Amino acid sequence: MARILAVINRKGGVGKTTCAVNMAVCLAAAGKKVLLMDMDPQGNATTTLGVRKDRGLGTVYHLLLGSKNFAAVVMEIYPPLFHFIMADADLVGAEIELVGYENRERHLQKAIDPHRSHYDFIILDCPPSLGLLTVNALVACDGVVVPLQCEFFSIEGFVQTRDTILRINRNFAKAITVDGIIFNMFDGSEAKQNFIQEFKDRLDQPASTWIVHYDSQVNIAPSHLKPGVCFNPWGEAAKQFQEIALDLIRANRGIQ
Ligand SMILES: Nc1ncnc2c1ncn2[C@@H]1O[C@H](COP(=O)(O)OP(=O)(O)OP(=O)(O)O)[C@@H](O)[C@H]1O
Ligand SMILES: [Mg+2]
Repeated sequence: MARILAVINRKGGVGKTTCAVNMAVCLAAAGKKVLLMDMDPQGNATTTLGVRKDRGLGTVYHLLLGSKNFAAVVMEIYPPLFHFIMADADLVGAEIELVGYENRERHLQKAIDPHRSHYDFIILDCPPSLGLLTVNALVACDGVVVPLQCEFFSIEGFVQTRDTILRINRNFAKAITVDGIIFNMFDGSEAKQNFIQEFKDRLDQPASTWIVHYDSQVNIAPSHLKPGVCFNPWGEAAKQFQEIALDLIRANRGIQ
């Protein structure tokens, strides 16, 4: 049974897409069956994987609105281990159209639950907002991974994200856990090391924490339509993403 992980942070540009894509690739490279879903109308995960948005392919939008079924939207990027469901700007419409539907927060859950047994991990790359798309991702997930940058505003973003999770747990009778926090784009400076230590000291619940270094090759990888771990496989960040994937696998073994 897949563990469904939403990669989430209310703050934009902290590395949600980078972490979601690279974690998913590393999980597949470690032999796990992975489904990555681009839940963001910006479609950054879609671009990073080199998937063209102008081909009229089935997307998360069709899946959420029920106009196409799972088989019609899932694509095999690296068969049989790595499946993907793309997004494009149409997904903005889903936020508005879903409002008129019954159980609008449960559409994603309903669409992916029957396929859980085909995967070891389902990774959801969330947009930087807490609208209906993110709520659908949270209602569908078992746990979250929160990437953040080592700076003051991250604390606010983390607290808002955590409060949203608590609200979803209460209102939807769920028990979403924070599976991990990624201190992303770390530069090794003393200030950032201090930030990380203080952040960890203030965590009220235990969660895995990981560091991913800033890597200029990871930064430019999407412009080459490649995930960072494929573009610069020997870099520090690639090693760290592999380590995160292995930790997630170990933790999941414990849960099952
Ligand atoms: N470890 C890293 N090293 C270098 N660059 C990085 C790293 N992580 C992310 N980036 C870069 O930072 C920028 C923002 O990353 P990304 O798009 O993954 O963030 P995001 O949280 O998904 O953004 P959004 O909120 O818009 O969805 C991108 O240009 C990405 O290439
Ligand atoms: Mg993103």
